Amino acid sequence: MIPLGENRTSFSEKIIWITGASSGIGEALAVQLSAMGALLILTSRNESELAQVRDRCSGQVSILPADLSIGGVHELAAAALAIHGRVDILINNAGIGQRATAEETSEIVLRQIMELDFFAPVLLTQALMPHFRSQGGHVVVTGSMAGLMGVPRRTAYSAAKHAVMGYFESLQVEHAIEGFFITIVSPGRVRSRFSINALRGSGEAHGQMDKAQQKGIPAEVCAGKIIRAIERKRRHAVIAREERLLWWLRKWAPPLYYIAARRFGG
Ligand SMILES: NC(=O)c1ccc[n+]([C@@H]2O[C@H](COP(=O)([O-])OP(=O)(O)OC[C@H]3O[C@@H](n4cnc5c(N)ncnc54)[C@H](OP(=O)(O)O)[C@@H]3O)[C@@H](O)[C@H]2O)c1
Repeated sequence: MIPLGENRTSFSEKIIWITGASSGIGEALAVQLSAMGALLILTSRNESELAQVRDRCSGQVSILPADLSIGGVHELAAAALAIHGRVDILINNAGIGQRATAEETSEIVLRQIMELDFFAPVLLTQALMPHFRSQGGHVVVTGSMAGLMGVPRRTAYSAAKHAVMGYFESLQVEHAIEGFFITIVSPGRVRSRFSINALRGSGEAHGQMDKAQQKGIPAEVCAGKIIRAIERKRRHAVIAREERLLWWLRKWAPPLYYIAARRFGG
């Protein structure tokens, strides 16, 4: 137990479940939140990478490996709740990208992206709703700027992130639970393994660090901004640089957006 008043943060002793915690933004969230006194539950498929992240964290960290794209989400939520008897903050961060045109993208890949990027955060949240209804809590979901506008070679990904935006914004409007909050974060490009892991049309990994990805903001900076958005209980946080301009153009000068957006498909 941390004595009251001594190095306490708003995350001290909070039970935080992070999905997609083995790399990139999720890993950076884990390291920073553990340093702020949170007790973590980390999920992704790769158990040994999760163990490496646990070694970089300072506090109590439990590992709950799972493939979130194949269902079984209710059982997983029960397993997460059983670790400490509660979850205070669920960070739905696991995700997979796309590097293929609409015509190249097979039905299997389209469904795989929707399973992980849309159904997993929705079903995990739904599974924990009775718990949040009784004790309050906070759900965070990593959307994307591609969830706010169209991006070439990201049709399935952008659709999944738009669906995330629609679902969680609707949930924000719908629920009236005391002490329960939802934060949607929409990052622009973040430097991580995201483009390397992104799926091509027939399901193989893109395998390349795209130039634009390389120029993105560091995952640690993105994680810091997500943490501030959680602390402030922000409903929606856009974490982006030049992508903001594109978003602005879409709203105020659509013809220019359609020209400029084509350059964002690399
Ligand atoms: N990087 C960007 O430019 C960017 C921009 C906007 C939004 N985002 C969003 O940010 C989130 C994190 O992305 P990132 O940049 O940190 O990419 P990343 O480094 O590729 O991390 C993705 C994470 O998701 C996990 N994951 C992938 N497939 C999974 C599955 N089937 N089941 C469970 N976990 C799975 C991965 O771990 P395993 O491989 O071990 O399963 C990994 O921990 C995603 O939701 C992404 O859409 C990223």
